[in-house]
Amino acid sequence: MSLPNHGANPNHLAKALGMALPEHIDDFSVNTNPFGPPSSLSKMNLIDLLSDVSAYPDPHVSELTARLAKINNVPTSHLLVGNGAAELIFLIGSVFRQKKVRIIEPAFSEYRDACLAHDCQVESLVLEAPWKLEKKHINEAIKDIDVLFLCSPNNPTGVRFEDETMVALVEAAEQAGVYVVIDEAFYDFCEQNKGLQELIHSYSKLILLRSMTKMYAIAGIRLGYMLADEKLIQQIKKRQPPWSVNGLAQKMGLQLLEEDAFVRQSVLSLSTERERMRGELVKLDFDISPSTVNFYLVSEQKKEDLKPLMLFLAEQGIVARHTYNFNGLNGKYLRLAVKDMQANDRLLHVMAKWRRQCSFS
Ligand SMILES: Cc1ncc(COP(=O)(O)O)c(C=O)c1O
Repeated sequence: MSLPNHGANPNHLAKALGMALPEHIDDFSVNTNPFGPPSSLSKMNLIDLLSDVSAYPDPHVSELTARLAKINNVPTSHLLVGNGAAELIFLIGSVFRQKKVRIIEPAFSEYRDACLAHDCQVESLVLEAPWKLEKKHINEAIKDIDVLFLCSPNNPTGVRFEDETMVALVEAAEQAGVYVVIDEAFYDFCEQNKGLQELIHSYSKLILLRSMTKMYAIAGIRLGYMLADEKLIQQIKKRQPPWSVNGLAQKMGLQLLEEDAFVRQSVLSLSTERERMRGELVKLDFDISPSTVNFYLVSEQKKEDLKPLMLFLAEQGIVARHTYNFNGLNGKYLRLAVKDMQANDRLLHVMAKWRRQCSFS
């Protein structure tokens, strides 16, 4: 059995590693907000929600689209809600069927899967640690392709590419007739909480992807959206199955968009904890990626494969995300989520134990 392709799969991971996990585990492989979902979700009126179970949902997702468009300051014609960002990634793949695609990696693995499923030719531009996209990369990134995919803030490194570089990239791509898909699934975890939505007004080949899964911890609900030029939105919409965004998701999405205080508090707590973890893990001689979000990569000097650490953590009830299926990382790193202080302390305790064990062996 091979290792799981995504985080949040502790039982699959344990089976693949041929081991049993202890009864209590902390799943640091899942990178959704540990403080979510917001309590208002559980307070929603069940009778109201049940009416959304028996009725067909609004096929145009009108209310949620209007609310998201307002928040992002774009016309509703420039926004499409999907059954998670994952659905939109596959729809984008289908629009660009058989085209030449490049992915700036390491990055979320579904861009490649979606493009390969639609017979695209897929190439990579692999960034090296500390995974900074620079202006000098732009020409190479957009050369001889139809579509470029990238993820910022990046999953798995947590690195947010600088706005100035992104604007230069989008501008160069527009001039060259290259579409650019920027996945901003984690943009709302950054302290600046600033996406690139303003650019949608000026660039017809830019596609921004957003997920509501991560901040609100609603992986089971399936809600994401994209921002793009009207023509492109229409082309993608034509391919989307009717009623793709179910009625419960539409109603819950509207409720969640009222949760500004929850978002602000989550970002503050997670940023504080991330920086605390960075300091503590560096003291223990681990290297940490320059993350701006709710997860980070950890590595050890002179170690090319972190499987022994992953196994040790799992035995102690800490599930980490392996990086074997991230181009450019190849198992040399583990991705760890930022959780609440108690869980982070449990992780630190086990990491310190590992360090002590290493220094004795
Ligand atoms: C970078 C990135 N984009 C998109 C997705 C998919 O999100 P959703 O749950 O909205 O389909 C994920 C999920 O892990 C992700 O990490």
